[in-house]
Amino acid sequence: MGKVSAKFFKNHVISTEYYMEDEIRRYGAKVLSLVWCSRDFARMMGNENPYGPSSKVIEAIKRSIHEIYRYPEPTYIRLLEKLSEYVGVGKENILIGAGSMELIDSTLRAFIDPNDEVVLSAPTYKPYLLRIRICGGKPVLIPMRRLPHEFRYDVEGMLEAVTPRTKAVVIINPNNPTGALMDGKRIEEFLDKEVLVMVDEAYFEFSGKTVAHLAPENENLIVLRSMSKAFGIAGLRVGYAIMHPKVADYIRRVQLPFRLSELSAAAALAALEDLDYMRETVKKIVDERERLFDELKKINGLHPYKSNANFILVGVKRKDVTAGQLSSKLLSRGVIVRDFTGAPGLEDGSYFRVSVSTPENNAKLVNALKGILGE
Ligand SMILES: Cc1ncc(COP(=O)(O)O)c(C=O)c1O
Repeated sequence: MGKVSAKFFKNHVISTEYYMEDEIRRYGAKVLSLVWCSRDFARMMGNENPYGPSSKVIEAIKRSIHEIYRYPEPTYIRLLEKLSEYVGVGKENILIGAGSMELIDSTLRAFIDPNDEVVLSAPTYKPYLLRIRICGGKPVLIPMRRLPHEFRYDVEGMLEAVTPRTKAVVIINPNNPTGALMDGKRIEEFLDKEVLVMVDEAYFEFSGKTVAHLAPENENLIVLRSMSKAFGIAGLRVGYAIMHPKVADYIRRVQLPFRLSELSAAAALAALEDLDYMRETVKKIVDERERLFDELKKINGLHPYKSNANFILVGVKRKDVTAGQLSSKLLSRGVIVRDFTGAPGLEDGSYFRVSVSTPENNAKLVNALKGILGE
C-alpha cells in the first residue's frame, strides 16, 4: 500500500491550521453543522446581513437555474461592468473572486515568497494569518491602541514595522473584530512605501469610507470588497478587488477559472441593480448597532467597543464568567456569537464579537445575557 508521511509536505503547510479548526475541534463537525443550519438560532457570529438579499436576487437565481449545466461565462463581463459603475473605477481595475477570501488568497499567493514579512494590526481577521503562513510568509503583528470605548490603529507602529523585509501591509478598514477605522490620509502614508498595501473593505457599506478611488493610480494598492455582508449573499461567495490593471494581470494568473457559479454571478448582478434595498438594510443595521451598543454598555461587566461595521466586540470583565463560557451559555439559549478568547492582540482578557442583527435577535441576545449574568 502506498504511503505519504508528514515529511512529504511543505513545512509551512504542516505548521498552519485550517480555517475554523478550533471550532470544529471544540464542538465537532456534526454539532457545528446542526447549529449552523438550524433556523432556531439567532445567527450573530458571521457578520451576515440578517435581512438577506433583495427579492430581485432570488428572482435572478430562479431565472438562471436552467443554465447550470453550462460552465459560467468566463469573463464575468456583465458583473464587471456593473461593479465598475458601483465603485466608480474602470472594469479593467476590477477582479472578481469567489468571496473576498479567495482574493485574499490569490493576492497573497501572487506576492508572498517564503520569509517575506507582512505587517498587520492585532487583532485581525484570522484568514490573513493562515494564508500568509501557507505561503511561508511571516505575519508581523502590531497591537492596536486601546481607548476606554474604542480600539485605534497604531499607525506609527505599523509604519515603523515596514522594513526591507516587508512585502505587504494589510489594513482592514473597518477592522474585524474591533470595528476600528483608519483615516484615508493615514492609509496614503503607506502608499509612499515600497510595499503592497492591501486594504480590506469587506464592511465598507457600513462605514461609508473608502480608498478604492486611489487604486487605479497607485500600483501598490489593492482594495478588497465583499458581497457577503451588506448585499446579503454570503452563501453565494462573491467578492471583488480594485487595483491597477498591471497588478490585475498577475493576480489573474493565480486565480482559478470559473470560480463563480453562474447563479452567483447572476445574483451579484441583481443585488447591484437594487442598491436602494441594500442601503435600506444597511441603515437599519447601523441604527441597531448604536442601540445594541448602548444596551450592552448597561450590562454590568460587559464592555462593548465602538464599531464602524456591522458587529460589536465586547470585553467581558467579570470574575464569575469568561467570554468562552458566556458564548457557550448563549448557545444553549439559542444565540450564536463568536468567542475571541486568546486571539492575537486580545490575550489580555476575555472577548466575544456579536454581529448586529434584527431588533428581535438583538433583544434575544440582550435578554439572554441579562438572564445568564443575573441582571
Ligand atoms: C475583514 C474580512 N475580510 C474578508 C472576509 C471574507 O468575506 P467573503 O465572504 O467575501 O469571503 C471577511 C468575512 O468575515 C472579513 O471579515
